Amino acid sequence: MRDDDRRLDATDRGASDGGGIAIPDVSAGLIDRSIYSDPDIYQLELQRIFARAWNFMCHETQIPHAGDYFINYIGEDQVIVVRGADDKVRVLLNTCRHRGNALCRAELGNTKTFVCSYHGWTYGLDGALIGVPGKADFYRNAIDQAKWGLAPAAQVDHYKGFYFATLDPAAPCLFDYLGDVGRVGIESMLNEGDVVSLDGVQKNVIDCNWKIAVDNLFDWYHVKVSHSSASSVGFLNQRLMMPMTQMVMLGELGHAIGGPMVTAEQQAKLDALSDAERLAIDRLADAERAKATPVERRPLRTTATREAMGPVGVRAIGHPNIFPNLWISTRGLQLSLRLPRGPGRTEIWWFTVMPKSFTDTQRRAAKKFITHAFGPAGLLEQDDGENWSQSTRSSHGVASRRYPHNLQMAMGQDEVLVDPSGQKRIETRVNEHAQRWTYRCWAEWLRARDWPELLATRSPAPTGRI
Ligand code: FES
Ligand SMILES: [Fe+2]
Repeated sequence: MRDDDRRLDATDRGASDGGGIAIPDVSAGLIDRSIYSDPDIYQLELQRIFARAWNFMCHETQIPHAGDYFINYIGEDQVIVVRGADDKVRVLLNTCRHRGNALCRAELGNTKTFVCSYHGWTYGLDGALIGVPGKADFYRNAIDQAKWGLAPAAQVDHYKGFYFATLDPAAPCLFDYLGDVGRVGIESMLNEGDVVSLDGVQKNVIDCNWKIAVDNLFDWYHVKVSHSSASSVGFLNQRLMMPMTQMVMLGELGHAIGGPMVTAEQQAKLDALSDAERLAIDRLADAERAKATPVERRPLRTTATREAMGPVGVRAIGHPNIFPNLWISTRGLQLSLRLPRGPGRTEIWWFTVMPKSFTDTQRRAAKKFITHAFGPAGLLEQDDGENWSQSTRSSHGVASRRYPHNLQMAMGQDEVLVDPSGQKRIETRVNEHAQRWTYRCWAEWLRARDWPELLATRSPAPTGRI
């Protein structure tokens, strides 16, 4: 049986799912459009990707004190991320155990308890059911409260202050899950040490499949065309996109980084500078900075960051995606979640973090840039969102859905280079390696019935010709 013909039996999907699902073969760089509209595939993604993966929750500075909470999602399951009186961060399903009412309605805040607005069941910060109205009179004390606490995520952990959670107890630990490429992505936000999250998460809904949005984050092909208006008003410097000097890093389980790179020669010049010199240049306006360094994009890495990112990772200044849906963007100052809301809808969230060491001037400049780039008011996201939604819409048509998407750019044309440190990269031009890798891993996640099978069948990070 060919992989693309493989059909999952009903036991994979629960008794009510009604049959198997064919996972399209993506190995030839051709993507069957059904994956953007098929409701069965969408449900399988919720089960086998989102409910299984480590999902980004929030940064530690969003919930610094006992009782601080933040609402997020794992797939379509809403969760409360809350810091307990014992300082432990927990992730609890935001659904009352009585009739399933959404317990916490605010997006964030501080509380001592969570009280359900329906019948008043009350839960502690650790999720324990601590109050049941009418327990003696109506329940006649015949309810075992210990059994009716909020359902917790199976595992919660953080990497350098960035919290993630998984619903699957069999998932590998977060450190291993991220692997080298995922960790490089997070390290890219820590160039000046500790960061702090800014108040407010920008949220908007785009009528597109979540994978179209993920695919786009690696796409440096579209910039010149899609964002020509941003260039024409001087917001985007096309020259800095460096289409002929690109690097791709592919990590196991689907993590990837793709986009511009610092060449080895440029990096050698940067390495000769002290941290103080690099930071001073980093704080120059772009025009001044362009005269001062061989690499015009931010940020220039400090010694500590360079060590944490490794000799290859430090040269990757493109876009990391932590599989499945966390994009680290915009000079390492923003994180974007692409939350699935059905096959044809995606909720886009934008978190902003900034180094604690930023001056007020830097902070103002960064906020201005960020607000103009992405989020509901961003010049770039408005361009992108329109294309994503129209690309998704064309996946429904009886005729148009017969024609696969083409992701064959640079396929078989490049080589994976292995650094003595063990880090792997492809040095190339604009390409579609990261997109193909994302879809290949996506198919592996969907085919595997559980974590042991996924770990046994996933592709290793590629080497050789690619
Ligand atoms: S649904 Fe929450 S107390 Fe009844
Ligand atoms: Fe774009």
